[in-house]
Amino acid sequence: MNENELTIRNLNAYYGGFQAISNVNMNIPAKEVTAFIGPSGCGKSTFLRTLNRMHEEIEGARVEGSIELEGQDLYAHALNPAAVRRHIGMVFQHPNPFPSMSIRDNVLSGLRFNSISCKGEAGDDIVEWALRSANLWDEVKDRLNKPGVGLSGGQQQRLCIARAIALKPEVLLMDEPCSALDPISTRAIEDLILELKQSYTIVIVTHNMQQAARISQKTAFFNLTAVGEPGHLVEMGDTEAMFSHPNMPQTKSYISGQFG
Ligand SMILES: Nc1ncnc2c1ncn2[C@@H]1O[C@H](COP(=O)(O)OP(=O)(O)O)[C@@H](O)[C@H]1O
Ligand SMILES: [Mg+2]
Repeated sequence: MNENELTIRNLNAYYGGFQAISNVNMNIPAKEVTAFIGPSGCGKSTFLRTLNRMHEEIEGARVEGSIELEGQDLYAHALNPAAVRRHIGMVFQHPNPFPSMSIRDNVLSGLRFNSISCKGEAGDDIVEWALRSANLWDEVKDRLNKPGVGLSGGQQQRLCIARAIALKPEVLLMDEPCSALDPISTRAIEDLILELKQSYTIVIVTHNMQQAARISQKTAFFNLTAVGEPGHLVEMGDTEAMFSHPNMPQTKSYISGQFG
Protein backbone atom coordinates (compact mmCIF):
# COMPACT_ATOMS: atom_id res chain seq x y z
CA MET A 1 0.00 0.00 0.00
CA ASN A 2 1.45 3.38 -0.98
CA GLU A 3 1.52 6.29 1.40
CA ASN A 4 -0.86 9.15 0.88
CA GLU A 5 0.62 12.12 -0.87
CA LEU A 6 -2.36 14.44 -0.54
CA THR A 7 -4.89 14.44 2.30
CA ILE A 8 -8.00 16.53 1.76
CA ARG A 9 -10.39 17.26 4.61
CA ASN A 10 -13.81 18.94 4.57
CA LEU A 11 -13.05 20.87 1.42
CA ASN A 12 -15.52 23.47 0.18
CA ALA A 13 -14.78 25.70 -2.82
CA TYR A 14 -16.65 28.86 -3.78
CA TYR A 15 -16.86 31.37 -6.61
CA GLY A 16 -18.16 34.42 -4.77
CA GLY A 17 -21.50 33.37 -3.30
CA PHE A 18 -21.71 30.20 -5.41
CA GLN A 19 -20.51 26.97 -3.82
CA ALA A 20 -19.00 24.69 -6.47
CA ILE A 21 -17.71 21.88 -4.21
CA SER A 22 -19.11 20.59 -0.95
CA ASN A 23 -17.30 18.78 1.84
CA VAL A 24 -14.79 16.62 -0.04
CA ASN A 25 -12.70 14.20 2.01
CA MET A 26 -10.10 12.24 0.09
CA ASN A 27 -6.68 10.62 0.33
CA ILE A 28 -4.62 10.59 -2.84
CA PRO A 29 -1.97 7.86 -2.79
CA ALA A 30 1.62 8.54 -3.76
CA LYS A 31 2.96 7.29 -7.10
CA GLU A 32 -0.34 6.10 -8.42
CA VAL A 33 -2.74 7.52 -10.97
CA THR A 34 -6.01 8.78 -9.48
CA ALA A 35 -8.79 9.54 -11.97
CA PHE A 36 -11.60 12.03 -11.34
CA ILE A 37 -14.78 11.27 -13.24
CA GLY A 38 -18.29 12.71 -13.20
CA PRO A 39 -20.73 14.76 -15.29
CA SER A 40 -19.87 18.25 -16.56
CA GLY A 41 -20.22 20.98 -13.97
CA CYS A 42 -19.83 18.73 -10.92
CA GLY A 43 -16.67 20.58 -9.92
CA LYS A 44 -13.85 18.27 -11.05
CA SER A 45 -11.75 21.11 -12.48
CA THR A 46 -12.50 23.36 -9.53
CA PHE A 47 -11.45 20.68 -7.05
CA LEU A 48 -8.30 19.92 -9.08
CA ARG A 49 -7.35 23.62 -8.99
CA THR A 50 -7.74 23.77 -5.20
CA LEU A 51 -5.01 21.10 -4.98
CA ASN A 52 -2.28 23.49 -6.11
CA ARG A 53 -3.82 26.79 -5.04
CA MET A 54 -4.81 27.85 -8.54
CA HIS A 55 -8.47 28.19 -7.58
CA GLU A 56 -7.82 31.30 -5.51
CA GLU A 57 -6.32 33.05 -8.57
CA ILE A 58 -9.88 33.66 -9.75
CA GLU A 59 -11.39 36.91 -8.44
CA GLY A 60 -13.75 36.17 -5.54
CA ALA A 61 -12.85 32.48 -5.37
CA ARG A 62 -12.05 30.87 -2.03
CA VAL A 63 -11.53 27.57 -0.30
CA GLU A 64 -12.46 26.17 3.13
CA GLY A 65 -11.07 23.01 4.71
CA SER A 66 -7.58 21.59 4.57
CA ILE A 67 -5.20 20.02 2.08
CA GLU A 68 -1.91 18.50 3.16
CA LEU A 69 0.97 17.44 0.94
CA GLU A 70 2.95 14.80 2.85
CA GLY A 71 1.63 16.27 6.07
CA GLN A 72 2.31 19.91 5.19
CA ASP A 73 -0.66 22.28 5.12
CA LEU A 74 -0.79 23.73 1.59
CA TYR A 75 -2.94 26.62 2.76
CA ALA A 76 -0.66 27.64 5.64
CA HIS A 77 -0.43 31.44 5.75
CA ALA A 78 3.34 31.44 5.49
CA LEU A 79 3.32 29.39 2.27
CA ASN A 80 3.67 31.16 -1.03
CA PRO A 81 1.22 29.73 -3.62
CA ALA A 82 4.00 29.80 -6.23
CA ALA A 83 6.03 27.44 -4.04
CA VAL A 84 3.04 25.10 -3.81
CA ARG A 85 2.77 25.07 -7.61
CA ARG A 86 6.43 24.16 -7.90
CA HIS A 87 5.66 20.94 -6.01
CA ILE A 88 2.28 20.35 -7.63
CA GLY A 89 2.38 21.00 -11.38
CA MET A 90 -0.53 21.25 -13.77
CA VAL A 91 -1.29 20.27 -17.36
CA PHE A 92 -4.39 21.70 -19.02
CA GLN A 93 -6.99 20.49 -21.48
CA HIS A 94 -5.63 22.50 -24.39
CA PRO A 95 -1.87 22.33 -24.86
CA ASN A 96 -0.61 25.82 -24.03
CA PRO A 97 3.10 26.23 -24.81
CA PHE A 98 4.19 29.87 -24.61
CA PRO A 99 3.75 31.03 -28.22
CA SER A 100 6.76 33.34 -28.34
CA MET A 101 9.15 30.75 -26.90
CA SER A 102 11.27 28.02 -28.45
CA ILE A 103 10.85 24.39 -27.41
CA ARG A 104 13.93 24.76 -25.17
CA ASP A 105 12.73 27.96 -23.52
CA ASN A 106 9.29 26.46 -22.93
CA VAL A 107 10.86 23.59 -20.99
CA LEU A 108 12.94 26.03 -18.91
CA SER A 109 10.21 28.63 -18.40
CA GLY A 110 9.03 27.34 -15.02
CA LEU A 111 12.58 27.28 -13.68
CA ARG A 112 13.19 30.84 -14.88
CA PHE A 113 9.91 31.99 -13.39
CA ASN A 114 11.08 30.56 -10.08
CA SER A 115 14.54 32.14 -10.49
CA ILE A 116 16.19 28.72 -10.57
CA SER A 117 19.47 28.87 -12.47
CA CYS A 118 19.39 27.00 -15.80
CA LYS A 119 22.05 28.66 -17.96
CA GLY A 120 24.33 26.85 -20.40
CA GLU A 121 25.06 23.19 -19.88
CA ALA A 122 22.96 22.84 -16.74
CA GLY A 123 20.00 24.10 -18.77
CA ASP A 124 20.83 21.73 -21.64
CA ASP A 125 20.84 18.81 -19.23
CA ILE A 126 17.47 19.74 -17.76
CA VAL A 127 15.97 20.24 -21.23
CA GLU A 128 17.15 16.82 -22.40
CA TRP A 129 16.09 15.09 -19.19
CA ALA A 130 12.62 16.68 -19.14
CA LEU A 131 12.01 16.02 -22.85
CA ARG A 132 13.17 12.42 -22.49
CA SER A 133 10.90 12.00 -19.47
CA ALA A 134 8.02 13.29 -21.60
CA ASN A 135 8.89 10.88 -24.46
CA LEU A 136 9.48 13.84 -26.78
CA TRP A 137 13.26 14.12 -27.03
CA ASP A 138 13.77 12.06 -30.18
CA GLU A 139 11.11 14.02 -32.04
CA VAL A 140 12.44 17.48 -31.18
CA LYS A 141 16.16 17.18 -30.42
CA ASP A 142 17.11 18.71 -33.77
CA ARG A 143 14.75 21.67 -33.45
CA LEU A 144 15.05 22.82 -29.85
CA ASN A 145 15.29 26.46 -30.90
CA LYS A 146 12.15 26.32 -33.05
CA PRO A 147 8.86 27.61 -31.62
CA GLY A 148 6.96 25.21 -29.35
CA VAL A 149 3.73 26.09 -31.11
CA GLY A 150 5.11 24.58 -34.36
CA LEU A 151 4.62 21.09 -32.94
CA SER A 152 1.54 18.89 -33.43
CA GLY A 153 -1.14 18.98 -30.72
CA GLY A 154 0.06 15.74 -29.15
CA GLN A 155 3.68 16.93 -29.19
CA GLN A 156 2.64 20.26 -27.67
CA GLN A 157 0.89 18.44 -24.84
CA ARG A 158 4.03 16.37 -24.19
CA LEU A 159 6.02 19.64 -24.25
CA CYS A 160 3.67 21.02 -21.57
CA ILE A 161 4.26 17.86 -19.54
CA ALA A 162 8.04 18.34 -19.98
CA ARG A 163 7.66 21.96 -18.82
CA ALA A 164 5.83 20.78 -15.69
CA ILE A 165 8.33 17.98 -15.01
CA ALA A 166 11.34 20.31 -15.36
CA LEU A 167 10.48 21.67 -11.91
CA LYS A 168 10.66 18.13 -10.48
CA PRO A 169 7.24 18.33 -8.82
CA GLU A 170 5.92 15.59 -6.56
CA VAL A 171 2.43 15.73 -8.03
CA LEU A 172 1.14 16.30 -11.57
CA LEU A 173 -2.45 17.45 -12.00
CA MET A 174 -3.93 16.90 -15.46
CA ASP A 175 -7.30 18.32 -16.49
CA GLU A 176 -8.62 16.28 -19.45
CA PRO A 177 -5.15 16.34 -21.05
CA CYS A 178 -6.22 14.22 -24.05
CA SER A 179 -9.59 15.71 -24.88
CA ALA A 180 -8.15 17.90 -27.66
CA LEU A 181 -5.98 15.10 -29.09
CA ASP A 182 -6.40 12.43 -31.77
CA PRO A 183 -6.42 8.74 -30.73
CA ILE A 184 -2.73 8.14 -31.53
CA SER A 185 -1.57 11.17 -29.53
CA THR A 186 -3.94 10.14 -26.76
CA ARG A 187 -2.32 6.73 -26.66
CA ALA A 188 1.14 8.35 -26.47
CA ILE A 189 0.04 10.48 -23.50
CA GLU A 190 -1.56 7.47 -21.77
CA ASP A 191 1.64 5.45 -22.19
CA LEU A 192 3.58 8.39 -20.84
CA ILE A 193 1.30 8.70 -17.78
CA LEU A 194 1.88 5.02 -17.00
CA GLU A 195 5.65 5.63 -17.07
CA LEU A 196 5.48 8.86 -15.09
CA LYS A 197 3.62 7.24 -12.21
CA GLN A 198 6.86 5.45 -11.26
CA SER A 199 8.16 8.87 -10.20
CA TYR A 200 5.15 11.12 -9.70
CA THR A 201 1.74 11.14 -8.10
CA ILE A 202 -0.74 11.83 -10.88
CA VAL A 203 -4.30 13.10 -10.69
CA ILE A 204 -6.20 13.17 -13.97
CA VAL A 205 -9.68 14.41 -14.82
CA THR A 206 -11.13 12.45 -17.70
CA HIS A 207 -14.46 12.07 -19.45
CA ASN A 208 -13.28 8.89 -21.05
CA MET A 209 -14.23 5.86 -18.94
CA GLN A 210 -11.96 3.54 -20.94
CA GLN A 211 -9.09 5.91 -20.30
CA ALA A 212 -9.77 5.97 -16.55
CA ALA A 213 -9.90 2.16 -16.58
CA ARG A 214 -6.68 1.85 -18.60
CA ILE A 215 -4.43 4.21 -16.70
CA SER A 216 -5.67 4.77 -13.15
CA GLN A 217 -5.36 2.70 -9.99
CA LYS A 218 -7.90 4.78 -8.05
CA THR A 219 -11.08 6.42 -9.31
CA ALA A 220 -13.13 9.14 -7.64
CA PHE A 221 -16.68 9.75 -8.86
CA PHE A 222 -18.13 13.25 -8.38
CA ASN A 223 -21.74 14.22 -8.95
CA LEU A 224 -24.19 17.01 -8.30
CA THR A 225 -27.75 16.68 -7.10
CA ALA A 226 -29.08 19.49 -9.32
CA VAL A 227 -27.80 22.37 -11.42
CA GLY A 228 -26.88 25.21 -9.07
CA GLU A 229 -26.09 22.77 -6.25
CA PRO A 230 -22.46 22.12 -5.30
CA GLY A 231 -20.68 19.04 -6.57
CA HIS A 232 -19.67 16.35 -4.11
CA LEU A 233 -17.60 13.19 -3.99
CA VAL A 234 -19.89 10.16 -4.27
CA GLU A 235 -17.25 7.50 -3.77
CA MET A 236 -13.62 6.68 -4.39
CA GLY A 237 -11.96 3.30 -4.62
CA ASP A 238 -9.74 0.97 -6.58
CA THR A 239 -10.46 1.55 -10.25
CA GLU A 240 -11.11 -2.11 -10.94
CA ALA A 241 -13.69 -2.36 -8.16
CA MET A 242 -15.29 0.99 -9.07
CA PHE A 243 -15.84 -0.19 -12.63
CA SER A 244 -16.91 -3.74 -11.84
CA HIS A 245 -19.03 -3.30 -8.70
CA PRO A 246 -19.37 0.28 -7.47
CA ASN A 247 -21.02 0.78 -4.08
CA MET A 248 -23.39 3.54 -5.10
CA PRO A 249 -26.21 3.23 -7.67
CA GLN A 250 -25.38 6.70 -9.13
CA THR A 251 -21.83 5.57 -9.84
CA LYS A 252 -23.17 2.51 -11.58
CA SER A 253 -25.50 4.50 -13.82
CA TYR A 254 -22.78 7.04 -14.65
CA ILE A 255 -20.14 4.50 -15.63
CA SER A 256 -22.64 2.50 -17.65
CA GLY A 257 -23.38 5.66 -19.65
CA GLN A 258 -26.91 6.33 -18.38
CA PHE A 259 -26.20 10.02 -17.70
CA GLY A 260 -23.47 12.66 -17.92
N1 LIG B 1 -14.46 30.95 -13.02
C1 LIG B 1 -15.67 30.59 -12.59
N2 LIG B 1 -16.52 31.48 -12.06
C2 LIG B 1 -17.74 31.13 -11.60
N3 LIG B 1 -18.20 29.87 -11.62
C3 LIG B 1 -17.41 28.92 -12.15
C4 LIG B 1 -16.10 29.23 -12.65
N4 LIG B 1 -15.53 28.07 -13.11
C5 LIG B 1 -16.45 27.10 -12.90
N5 LIG B 1 -17.57 27.60 -12.33
C6 LIG B 1 -18.77 26.85 -11.94
O1 LIG B 1 -18.43 25.88 -10.96
C7 LIG B 1 -19.12 24.66 -11.20
C8 LIG B 1 -18.11 23.54 -11.38
O2 LIG B 1 -17.41 23.76 -12.58
P1 LIG B 1 -16.15 22.89 -13.02
O3 LIG B 1 -15.24 22.76 -11.86
O4 LIG B 1 -15.59 23.50 -14.26
O5 LIG B 1 -16.83 21.49 -13.31
P2 LIG B 1 -16.30 20.24 -14.19
O6 LIG B 1 -14.83 20.40 -14.38
O7 LIG B 1 -16.68 19.04 -13.40
O8 LIG B 1 -17.06 20.29 -15.48
C9 LIG B 1 -19.99 24.89 -12.43
O9 LIG B 1 -21.29 25.25 -11.98
C10 LIG B 1 -19.32 26.06 -13.12
O10 LIG B 1 -20.25 26.83 -13.84
MG1 LIG C 1 -13.63 20.55 -16.10
